[in-house]
Order: sequence, then structure tokens, then C-alpha cells
Amino acid sequence: MVENILKPLDLTDDRYRKVMDLLKQNLDEGLHPDTHANANVKCFPTYVRSVPDGSENGDFLALDLGGTNFRVLLINLNGQEVTMESKIYIIPQHIMLGSGDQLFDHIADCIFKFMCDHKLHDRTLPLGFTFSFPCRQVGLDRAILTTWTKGFKCDGVEGRDIVELLHAAIQRRGDMKNVRCLAVINDTVGALMSCAHSDRNCAIGLILGTGTNACYIEELSSVKTWDGDYNDPKQVLINTEWGAFGNNGCLDFILTDFDRSIDKHSINPGKQIYEKMISGMYMGEIARLAIERLRKHNLLFEGEGSYHLSTRGRFYTKYVSEIEGDDVDNFTVTKQIFDELELASHTEQDCRLVRHVCSLVSKRAAYLASAGIACLLNKMGRKEATVGVDGSLYRFHPFFHDLMMEKISQLIRPNLSFKLMLSHDGSGKGAALVAAVAARLEKKEQEAQQQAEVEINQAMKNSSLEV
Ligand code: GLC
Repeated sequence: MVENILKPLDLTDDRYRKVMDLLKQNLDEGLHPDTHANANVKCFPTYVRSVPDGSENGDFLALDLGGTNFRVLLINLNGQEVTMESKIYIIPQHIMLGSGDQLFDHIADCIFKFMCDHKLHDRTLPLGFTFSFPCRQVGLDRAILTTWTKGFKCDGVEGRDIVELLHAAIQRRGDMKNVRCLAVINDTVGALMSCAHSDRNCAIGLILGTGTNACYIEELSSVKTWDGDYNDPKQVLINTEWGAFGNNGCLDFILTDFDRSIDKHSINPGKQIYEKMISGMYMGEIARLAIERLRKHNLLFEGEGSYHLSTRGRFYTKYVSEIEGDDVDNFTVTKQIFDELELASHTEQDCRLVRHVCSLVSKRAAYLASAGIACLLNKMGRKEATVGVDGSLYRFHPFFHDLMMEKISQLIRPNLSFKLMLSHDGSGKGAALVAAVAARLEKKEQEAQQQAEVEINQAMKNSSLEV
């Protein structure tokens, strides 16, 4: 009976290989103009063309919106050395689900507070914005939100340029004339950039946190939707937005009842199907649904549930990590969690079974993410590639890294090798690095313009002399 209930969570390698094939097909559809409009995996070109070369320096402001928190950061880049100060600001639920103006006014207020606390008012600092939602970029500093994900749903932002909305909110305040956003990046790009800062082989950025997504370096000739220039470097970072993989039903063959229930009760039914099987926002809930199913069949807790155990979202993803990391000789943490959930009776056997459920759920998540990474590694075909990884799920789960190393190794072509590298604060550092490049380009342009003006003036002078 236990096995019958849990079996659908345990997928064979054949299934993971099929997921890889389907993802490859979906990536190609996203990259081609004929299929892009209907593609699930959008593969947005980011306008980030090269990884940092270590020469970036100066002070930068960065914003990080997209996970559970909003952060403002002050970052100093000095060659390989990076120092940063940051502050977390809560985005209350009513703002996450309120109007876009409210959201951006709140963000502008937080920036103002941060600048006061750090006495930055008289300084003009380039700002990089890590905005971790699907955006169609039309330049480094223009990003149009296509659709909210991960529990956000603010009116009036989809279809709009978020830099414009941010600048409008800053203007409404009227007291932050020196703040201007030069670059918007996705958190996957931040992870890639921050790892590439110390490892030149880094070619993929992966997030395993509240949501999941990956970006990778693609040849311009393969990006048929590219409308920028074809100068060197002939490559661009592609934000795959792979969380939406499966929205067209192509992953239905691996969905369980638990997945279907989560999707049905989410604020975005039918969307982000792959993300809902993998990321931290949903993993605890998948485990809870499986545990509840076992309990209802009298296979756990002598059939006795609790109000908490039957409450949606109450079995946090951090419980999954904690239970799997617990000492199996005494299950101290597991029992503490059961007490928190006010489960009246629980035995050692219950602890073992709940741990088994958690390990099946995280193994499937880790293997599905591995199938995604293996697909990208095979597609790029680089002999050696580093994957920069960030996100609370990867960071805090005791075995996620090991599970992924094992599965990716099995799924990639045998002549390829890879590394998984933890990205340290990629969202902040990455935004600063991209803003640094943008600031440098802007300065170069200004200098070129000034030079041109000087030359024109000179030419006019000369010609008037000649007259
Ligand atoms: C969601 C967002 C994506 C982001 C990911 C990880 O999938 O749509 O932009 O990168 O979460 O935060």
C-alpha cells in the first residue's frame, strides 16, 4: 500500500531522458521566431554578452526582488575583491497581490531608507536591478514583465517595462535625483556572472530557491530571435525561464496527483509546471500531500492527523531539509517538527516513513533539475563547464548537491565534464557587475560623443577659417 501511494514519485532514468529530449525541443522552439510566440520555454535573450573580466570596480547599488524578500545592497567591486552591505525589507502579502504602483512606491521607499542609513544621498551610484521574473528584454535597461510567477500578482505590471515603473516611482518621491537604473538582470544571470567572476568556465546559471530557472551562454547564430548587433562577442546569455516547461501538457506523463493538486490550488493554475515539481515554494507541499494521503490510509500516525497537517502550505520546505538531515538514531528534529504540527502520537516507524517521503520528493526535484542541466550541457557541448548555482533549496538541503552531481554525470555525454559551484550572493554581485559594464559602456559612449563634438567644432572652425 505504501509503495502504491509513493511509487509515482519515483521516476526511472528513461523518464528523465525523455524530459531532457522534450526540454531540448522546447528550448529550440523558444529560440526560433516562428515558434517563439507559442513556446513555453521562452529563452529570452538578456543583452548580457560577456562575463566579467575582473577589471570592474567602484561602488554600486543593487536591488534584488524575486524570492521571499526584497533587498537593497551597496556593493564595492575592486578586482576580485567584492564587499557588500545589504538590508532585507519585507514585502507584505497585500503588496505582493496589490497594485504595481504600490509595489514600486514601496521599493522606492526602501531605497530611500537604505540611502539615508548609508548616507548616500549626495552620491550618484549606478544601480543594477535583479528582477527575477520572466521579462522580455529590449535592452540592458529595458525589461518588460511577461507574467508574474512565484506568488506575486501585482496589477498593471505585466506588459510594462519595470525600469520605467521604478523610475516613475522614484520620480513620484522627488527626493532621489541621483538614482538611475542602468541594468536589469534575472537572478540566474546574477548567479552565472558572480561565479564567472572567479571561474572563467562558468557557462550556466541555475537557481533552486523559491522558484527554479536557468540561463546559459548561447551562440548568436543559434538565437534566431536576436535583434541586436552581431559584433564580438558573438554570444549572448539566454534566460530560459524553464519553470514554464510543461505548461502545454508535455510533462503530464510524470505528474502525480500531488502535483495536480498543487497546480489546481495555486494562484497560477496551468503555469510553471516544471517549477512546481522542483522548487522550494512547492516541495514541502508535495511532501505534505503525500504524508496526508498515507495518514488517511492509516499508514502514518495511527491515522490521526492534525489541523496543521491538513493546512495547505503548513509543511514547509525547510522541514524536508531538516528531516532528511536528521540523525536517524534518535530523530530529534523530526519529532520536534511533529510536535510543532501538533501530531498527537508518532512512532519511530512514522519518523522513518516521513523521512522516506521527504527523500523521494527531493530526489525527484534534484533529478528533474539535473535533467534540465544535463540537457543544457549536452546542447552547449563544452568540454568543461561550470554551473553557478544559487537559491535556498540548493544551499540548505543536505543532499541536493550530491544528488545532482550523481544524476547529471549519468545523463551527460561521456566526453563532457562539469562542476557545480555555489554562487555567493549572485543576485547582488551579479547586478553590480552588469551595472559596472553598463556604466563603462555609457562612459565610453559619452567620451566618444564628446570627442565627436570636439572634432565637429574643430572642423567647423577650420572651415570658417578657410572661408
Ligand atoms: C521563477 C521566475 C524566474 C526566476 C526563478 C528563480 O521561475 O519566473 O525569472 O529566475 O523563479 O527565482
